[in-house]
Amino acid sequence: MLRPTEDILILGIESSCDDTAAAVIRGDHILSNVIANQEVHRNFGGVVPELASRAHQQNIIPVVEVALSKANVGKNELNAIAYTRGPGLLGSLLVGTSFAKALSLSLGIPLLDVDHLQAHILAHFIRDTPDQEIPQFPFLCLTVSGGHTQIVVVESPGHMRSIGQTIDDAAGEAFDKAAKIMGLPYPGGPLIDKLAREGNAFAYSFPEPRIPGLDYSFSGLKTSFLYFLRDRLKSDPDFIGKNKADLCASVQHSIVSILLRKLALAAEHTGILEIAIAGGVSANSGLREALLQMAGVKGWKVFLPRFAYSTDNAAMIAMAGVFRYMSGNFAPLDLPPYARAGEHH
Ligand code: KG4
Ligand code: ZN
Repeated sequence: MLRPTEDILILGIESSCDDTAAAVIRGDHILSNVIANQEVHRNFGGVVPELASRAHQQNIIPVVEVALSKANVGKNELNAIAYTRGPGLLGSLLVGTSFAKALSLSLGIPLLDVDHLQAHILAHFIRDTPDQEIPQFPFLCLTVSGGHTQIVVVESPGHMRSIGQTIDDAAGEAFDKAAKIMGLPYPGGPLIDKLAREGNAFAYSFPEPRIPGLDYSFSGLKTSFLYFLRDRLKSDPDFIGKNKADLCASVQHSIVSILLRKLALAAEHTGILEIAIAGGVSANSGLREALLQMAGVKGWKVFLPRFAYSTDNAAMIAMAGVFRYMSGNFAPLDLPPYARAGEHH
C-alpha cells in the first residue's frame, strides 16, 4: 500500500451520533482534531435524535472553523472534504452531509463519502510520530462501539468483510445498559471502566452466551445482571452502593471475556496474527489489558488506537477520506446518507 503523501490536505467531518467533530489531515498526519460533545442528552439517559440534529446545526460551523484555524490551514488550501455518510442517526448524518456538500461545491473540490465503521478501523493508519507502526494487510479488527460489534477481516483500506457480529446488543450498549441498571449516568461505559479499577473482577460471575460461530450476543448478560441485582436488592437495598466497584469489575470482565473468546476463534480460523481493536469500547482499559495478555500467549501483534481516536472523532473520517481520495473515489452531490451498516451495498 502506498503511503499517503504530504500534498494531500483533507477536512474530515463527523456527525453520525451525538458528537460534532472536524479534523484536518495532511497525508497521514493529523493537524487538528476538534470535537463538540453534546451535553443536552445527559438528562435523558441516552441520545435524543431531534436534540442531536439541532445541536449539530449549532456546532458544525464553529467546530469546522476551529479545526481549520488550529491546523493553520485556509479553506482554499484543502484538496477535498470527507464526511460520514453512515451508519448513524439520519437527522444527525444529514447535517454533516449537507454541510460537507455545500462546502465542497462552494470550494470546487471533491467530496469523499466515508463509512463510519471503516473509519474507526482506518484510524490505525494515522501516524502521529514518523516511526509509528501501522498494521499490515490482512489484519483482524474487533470493532466495538455503542452501535456495533464486529470482527472484520481488513484486506485493504477499501476492502473489509465482517466475519462475525452481534445478533442483539452491541458491546458498548452492554456497558451502557449495565451502568443504567446500577443507576449510573449515560454513557456508562467510561464510568464502569473507571470504577472497575477499584473492584474485584471475580466477585460475581455471569453465564457466557452460547452462540455458534463468530457471532456475539449481549442481551443475555444484561438480563442475568438485572435479575441478579433484583434478587440481591431484596435482602439488601444498598447492595449496589456497597458493591459498585466489584459489580463494575465483574460485568466488565464478563463483556471482555465474551469479546476475546470469539476474537481468539477468529484468529484461529483465519490464521491472521495481526489484531487491532477500534471503536468507543476499544478505550476500555480492561479490554486493552486482557487483549495484550492474550496476545502474549498467542503470539499476536496487537494494535490499540490512541484514546483520541477510539471514541467518535473526525480524525478517523479524514484518514479514511485520504484513502478514498487516493483511489479517486469521489462522491456525487446527490448521494444520500444511510442509517444502517451495509445499506449502501
Ligand atoms: O464509537 P463510539 O464513540 O460511538 C459509536 O459509534 O457508537 O462508541 C461509544 C460507546 C458507548 O457505548 C460508550 O459507553 C463506550 O463506547 N465506551 C466505553 C469506554 N469509552 C467509551 N466502554 C467501556 N469502557 C470505556 N472506557
Ligand atoms: Zn463510532
